[in-house]
Amino acid sequence: MLSDSSRSSSSDTLYQPGLLEEPGRAAHYLEMSLNAFAQRASIVTAIKAAIRPMEGVWIAVCFGAEAWDRLNPEWRPAKLVPFTALTGANGYAMPATQSDVYFWIHGEDQGDVMDAVLQVHDAMRDISRCVLDIGGFKNREARDLTGFVDGTANPKGDKRLDAALIPEGEAGAGGSYVLTQQWQHHLQAFHQLSVHEQQQVIGRTKQDNIELEGDDMPATSHVSRTDVKVNGVGQKIYRRSTPYGGADNHGLYFLAFACDLDRIRIQLERMLGNSGDGLSDHLMKYSTPRTGAYWFMPSQTDLNHLLNR
Ligand code: HEM
Repeated sequence: MLSDSSRSSSSDTLYQPGLLEEPGRAAHYLEMSLNAFAQRASIVTAIKAAIRPMEGVWIAVCFGAEAWDRLNPEWRPAKLVPFTALTGANGYAMPATQSDVYFWIHGEDQGDVMDAVLQVHDAMRDISRCVLDIGGFKNREARDLTGFVDGTANPKGDKRLDAALIPEGEAGAGGSYVLTQQWQHHLQAFHQLSVHEQQQVIGRTKQDNIELEGDDMPATSHVSRTDVKVNGVGQKIYRRSTPYGGADNHGLYFLAFACDLDRIRIQLERMLGNSGDGLSDHLMKYSTPRTGAYWFMPSQTDLNHLLNR
């Protein structure tokens, strides 16, 4: 099974370009199902055309577990699985909408990003069906539509790579496990809360973006549910989410990269109320996940090998 593991765990692996390019004021997300009859050669040709470099835009490509097996039966990252629906102790749910190929397209200019979206769609149209097609944007202060700054506690500098990349020696080294979830906000309900109550939901102050401390920080806040240690190790992930949507339907398109899928899974279970304390994330009262998928973003080295062998 791991006959090709030297390819996937060598020390010369490079992550796909764009991973660390922040802030990326414009983004677009395309999740696609491959046609059942599409041949490997046509899929490879289409992906190569889809990700042709474009000025000012980053186009990363990721694969669902089944699609990865279909294109690369020789080896797979140890923890890669399709996302399955999750239910929470307190009646919350996270649906699964796993598909095959995911394109994360981002840059600073929305027009440039749109040109890349059209390139990807045109390249993929004969061999796939687009099941999610969403534009994302970031405002100057990287505030989510709730008004709270999103991304502050992300790891910084090289620590982003420690959090995001599968370590050397493991199948898929230099690549990432990825979670995407489209969360739909219920802003009317959220804005009926006082600012103090909103802060208790998130776990940080709204205006100044300072983490709540001591008794001020509820165990049900979003930060309390997601800032977690296992055996003394912080379960850090690298988040690159953006707001999305229009006047009526809007929210956060959650996008995160992790060195180990368990880190993401632990955070989701804690949000749902499935960890020992049975507490769920009060953010789930005001935002509902509508999609959910796990992906493998191969390193550039593994991607080149997949597309050029
Ligand atoms: C409606 C969906 C979500 C919204 C609006 C949201 C928003 C936020 C905000 C405002 C913060 C505080 C600032 C920051 O450090 O970034 C935060 C922190 C965080 N969120 Fe979320 N988030 C959402 C979903 C998720 C999900 C699904 C996960 C995990 C799979 C997650 C993981 C985290 C983590 C790890 C932190 C940092 C905690 C810390 O170490 O302080 N978030 N989020």
